[in-house]
Amino acid sequence: MSECREAMDGQERPPPLRANGWEFRSPYRVDFQSTSSLWPPARKFARAPLQCAVALAAGLPVTSKSAPVLTVDGPSGSGKGTISRMVADALGWHLLDSGALYRAVGYAAGMEGLDLSDADAVTRCAQHTKIMFRDPKDGGETRVVVNGHDATDELRTETCGAAASAIAVIPSVRAALVDKQLSFRRAPGLVADGRDMGTVIFPDAGFKVFLTASAEERAKRRYKQLKEKGLSVTLAALLREIQARDVRDAGRAVAPLRPAADAVLIDSTGMPIEAVVATVLALVRPR
Ligand code: C5P
Repeated sequence: MSECREAMDGQERPPPLRANGWEFRSPYRVDFQSTSSLWPPARKFARAPLQCAVALAAGLPVTSKSAPVLTVDGPSGSGKGTISRMVADALGWHLLDSGALYRAVGYAAGMEGLDLSDADAVTRCAQHTKIMFRDPKDGGETRVVVNGHDATDELRTETCGAAASAIAVIPSVRAALVDKQLSFRRAPGLVADGRDMGTVIFPDAGFKVFLTASAEERAKRRYKQLKEKGLSVTLAALLREIQARDVRDAGRAVAPLRPAADAVLIDSTGMPIEAVVATVLALVRPR
């Protein structure tokens, strides 16, 4: 974390991090061995419980603005989903899987037989599609219910991922999903996983992480996941799909995939998941 402190003090900037063909320049960056607690957003976090207490004492609802937010952005397969869930569980915070919202709209548009490039039709679909997240009582994985149908398994397919990425380039579709995403910000806190969480949806978040890994590593992780589910896929096809999605997500005009200027960059290539989780938690829970 000494890199972060140096960057904050303005004495020395960390060298740019290169990953996936991008060069990230950020004032903050952590290495996996870092354990220090000093990071500016921790001060913002310290104020949040006080704001909640004041609101409660005054008989006001705990406003969403007062709940702390950790944003976890990054490309497909960077491990955001797993890491966000583990961090949210460890903190006891709510979780927003914003990718599931885009997948749900892509899925609903497919069910309606829409042309995914028809911006007006897909926007209407985004506006009227009912998306609900349901936590099973037995503690299993969260189910995503789209227009009354449990679509959790369908949403995970590459077809839905590609449909999500295609409709996500439409500005009015993104606009239709903003309020839904903001509504997840509730006490005691929110971990928001996506592409534009730290840049567009929660720019005032106290904690921001940009998680990445090489395209090859991400393709291998996805391959393993899908194989374990018994799906027939090839590594080469997955790599092509991931690279195409990276280009589309980073190149779109609205809310492109970019690290927020104040995000901590974490390259998880070759790192055990527990090490990544520990690094993220160390940012939020100063020791
Ligand atoms: O994260 P996930 O792979 O489930 O997201 C599916 C697609 O939805 C992404 O490839 C991206 O195009 C889109 N998306 C987005 N903004 C978000 C989350 C996802 O554009 N915040």
